[in-house]
Amino acid sequence: MAVPEPVLTAARSARRVVVLTGAGMSAESGVPTFRDAQSGLWERYSPEELATPQAWRRDRPFVLAWYLWRFGLVSTVEPHAGHRAVAGWAGADGPEVAVVTQNVDDLHERAGSSEVVHLHGALADWRCEDCAQRYDGPLPSVAEGVDRVEPPRCGACGAAIRPGVVWFGEALPLGPWSEAVARVEDADLVLVVGTSGIVHPAAGLPAIARAAGAVVVEVNPVETEVSDVAHHVWRETAAVALPALVEAARLPER
Ligand code: APR
Repeated sequence: MAVPEPVLTAARSARRVVVLTGAGMSAESGVPTFRDAQSGLWERYSPEELATPQAWRRDRPFVLAWYLWRFGLVSTVEPHAGHRAVAGWAGADGPEVAVVTQNVDDLHERAGSSEVVHLHGALADWRCEDCAQRYDGPLPSVAEGVDRVEPPRCGACGAAIRPGVVWFGEALPLGPWSEAVARVEDADLVLVVGTSGIVHPAAGLPAIARAAGAVVVEVNPVETEVSDVAHHVWRETAAVALPALVEAARLPER
């Protein structure tokens, strides 16, 4: 896999890299993205119909079944070569590498990345919808084809347990957002991988990075809403591009 020359040049000289990831980063591990077709039972529904506080209040068992299905799926898949390349890039002679992700799975962590900022929460962080107490108790299992599951109840107040993810219309957690902005403002290279760039405020990070002086590179097989912000676009998938880039950046220059 040939790495585009300007991308390689930027990667070789970068001391602080941020890898900004979206659902496309997890696609080659077997987790469907949101805006490409969903599979099976859920293919008729858009994320906007399932991932909102209104959807939750309207039909908690239905929304919970969707999240439990994704949670179960994520636990059965593995990080791919792109996740591993990002995790192994930092090191004695390598740059500092931080991951800022919109993904609620833990594939970056399982690949070995230690610095992962989750802008949209995490699937594994269940909490009470009312008092916000963390929930580590048992979760109902969802068999294939099950589209309704009663939520467990909070041990402290009895309200329903919800997934610890950020829904449309909810504010991003302040700490991760501030950290993401600080990271991209401080970076000299930002790789924007596998995001459609339509969900704000996360979709504004490439522009913040560029305004602060970083080289911005998009890795995505198709054009997106943030392609115009990138200095360079690389029409390749994450599991192919990222290992090729890290390997080439490590080789001594000819
Ligand atoms: N490698 C790189 N990019 C890929 C790959 C791949 N193998 N496969 C798909 N893509 C790209 C698609 O071309 C698309 O641009 O990944 C992007 C996925 O877009 P979305 O499904 O919209 O995912 P994302 O941008 O992460 O969504 C943002 O929206 O639903 C909410 O909160 C949810 O965090 C999510 C947010």
